Formats: sequence, C-alpha cells, structure tokens
Amino acid sequence: MKIAILPGDGIGPEIVAEAVKVLERLRRDGLDVEWTHAPIGGAGYDAYGDPLPASTLALAKAADAILLGAVGAPKYDALPREKRPEQGLLRIRKELELFANLRPALVHDELAAASALKPERVAGLDLLIVRELTGDIYFGQPRGIRVNAAGEREGFDTMVYAEGEIRRIAHVAFQAARKRRKQVCSVDKANVLETSRLWREVVTAVGREYPDVALTHMYVDNAAMQLVRNPKQFDVILTGNMFGDILSDEASMLTGSIGMLPSASLDAHNKGLYEPVHGSAPDIAGQGVANPLATILSLAMLLRYSLGMEEAARRVERAVGAVLASGVRTADIAEPGVKPVSTAAMGDAVVAAL
Ligand code: NAI
Ligand code: MG
Repeated sequence: MKIAILPGDGIGPEIVAEAVKVLERLRRDGLDVEWTHAPIGGAGYDAYGDPLPASTLALAKAADAILLGAVGAPKYDALPREKRPEQGLLRIRKELELFANLRPALVHDELAAASALKPERVAGLDLLIVRELTGDIYFGQPRGIRVNAAGEREGFDTMVYAEGEIRRIAHVAFQAARKRRKQVCSVDKANVLETSRLWREVVTAVGREYPDVALTHMYVDNAAMQLVRNPKQFDVILTGNMFGDILSDEASMLTGSIGMLPSASLDAHNKGLYEPVHGSAPDIAGQGVANPLATILSLAMLLRYSLGMEEAARRVERAVGAVLASGVRTADIAEPGVKPVSTAAMGDAVVAAL
C-alpha cells in the first residue's frame, strides 16, 4: 500500500515526522506500506510556485491514501488568492472528490478535565460524526443577492441533495458503524425541510441493507442539545454538510484539546485524505512543542478506513492511550505542574508503547 505524505507548513513537518516514526515502526513489524513525501500549501508555493504542484497531485492520485500535516503561514498572506496555501488543500479535496468527512470525538479519560463539560459527562466519550462534504446549501444553485418586488435586497441560497449523494454518504456511515458499536443516528430537519424528508427516506432505505446496525433519526436542534446533555448516547452521527459543519465543531469542544483531534475525508472508493483538525499553528511552529497525537491518530484512521488494516489502527490507538495513561504530555494537554515533553519525545513515547 502506498501513502502520500504531505507535511505542508508551520508545525506540519514537525508533527508529520512523528507519524512517520510510527509508520517506520509498523513496517519493521511487517506492515506492507511504503510512502513518499511531497510539498503542499506554502511549501508547494516555495518549491514550485503553486500550492498544489502537479507532481504532488499526481502522487496523491496514485497513492492509496494521503496523510497531511497542515497548511498556511502569515508570510503567504499577501499572495493572490489562487497562490495561497489553503487553495492547495481546497483543490486536492475537490480533485479527489472527497465527499465524506469523518470526525471522531474521543475523550481519553486522563484528559477529561480539559473538556468544556464536566469530566464525568464526557469520560469514555467515543463518537464519530460522518458529514457530507460536497453538497447541501453550501453548493446548491441558484444563490445570490437580488432585489425583491418591494425594492429591498434579499439574499438566497438553495439547499439541495440528490438521492445518490445521500445514499453514498449513508453507506459510509453504516460501514463505519460496523467497525464500531453498530449504531447510526441520522440528523436532519425533516419536520421542516423537504431535503431532509428525502434524506430520511433514503437513509432508512440504505439502513435496510445493514440489519446489524441500529438506525435512529434526530432533528438537528435536538441533536445540538443532546450533544451537550448526554453525548455518550451517540456512536455514529450521520448528517449533511451544514448541520455537520456546526455539530462537528460543537463535538470537538467536548474533547477540549485541538491537538488530539484527527479527521478523514473519503471518496467513493475509501481512498482518503487524513489530517489533524487543527491548522499550522504559526505561533508555536519551529519550537518542537506541538502535539503530534492528532496526526498520529489520523494515521490510525488512514490504516483503518483506506488500507483496511484494522488491527494496526487499533495498535496505534492503544499505544496513544498507553502514553496518555503514563502521564506523558505535550504543553497543550499538560495539567498544571506537569513538565511538558517535546513533539519528538511524544512521538518516541508512542513508538516505545507500540
Ligand atoms: P490553528 O489550529 O493553527 O491554531 C489554533 C491554536 O491552537 C494556536 O494557539 C495553536 O498554537 C494551537 N494548536 C494547534 N495545533 C496544535 C498542536 N498540534 N499542538 C499544540 N497546539 C496546537 O488555527 P489558526 O491559528 O486559526 O490558524 C493558523 C494557520 O493554520 C492559518 O494559516 C490557517 O489558515 C491555517 N489552518 C489550516 C488548516 C488545515 O491545514 N487544515 C485548518 C485550520 C487552519
Ligand atoms: Mg467549521
């Protein structure tokens, strides 16, 4: 299996280097993987004058999966929009048709105190949000600002979902649930929106193909409340682009630490791009203090969802759990009075736990 490694900018190269250490260790134990590095974002611009160089895109297309660090740095702010680092990320998502965004919210018991909620409410939390990423009101046509009959300006957007778009994201959610606790909660607004009525009908039909997975439905306003009231009731949350945008940010705060959150964006063939939820953290770049665990956990997702290497994925996740249990902390997750370790020392600790 081939992995394209795109470190990017800021802390990207520092955190990705630690994930590569983990890969090296797994390969030594017999895992059949190889990888190649290529520049993206500001690094792509520096090397080739393009945030997504053609050679990087070709490598990403040929790979089975992509591991990305982060893009962006203040020194590129003055560039024209199409040369900016973020364009590299937006373009690669579009080129690879990554329509399924997977964001787990997992609370390691040792870090439960960092949550925005009371520790007992989130200890043991392990949910996965599956968000549709290429449809919905963010892309629907027509859209614009027009003058209405009363001579007043009005803005309008169109919420639209085709059956096929709903079906393919539903399959992703049910398949993910099979690797977990076998529950899908589909979130919509079917009491008000026509798109949601169709969404509910199609998801229910797809659900019949997965009799081993329990399907429930919830309105989005209730889901927002339940995430705070009792988040542990959820296993997989399946939802559209806009509701997923909002709910995934809400869920990330349940865990309290941005340096811990991985993500995946998948295409129709389980090829995917894996990256930490956080950005390039220019304020700490180059200091060797960034937390590499979000990237290492993104690698675990890569092994699980794109390479079908579930056992290796679990091994990496168990190693991260063991390191946290042993009290090793980078600065962002260190309790008061605990001396934080460097990015490299955290990576070494995970490798040692493996
Ligand atoms: P950010 O996520 O880079 O940083 C927010 C805060 O969290 C900072 O204080 C940072 O030091 C801290 N932080 C982030 N990751 C950390 C880690 N692994 N360990 C310890 N602390 C960590 O978001 P911000 O500051 O809004 O954006 C900075 C740059 O990153 C911008 O250029 C932005 O466009 C880019 N960005 C890129 C993303 C991506 O590549 N997917 C996503 C979000 C932002
Ligand atoms: Mg958002």
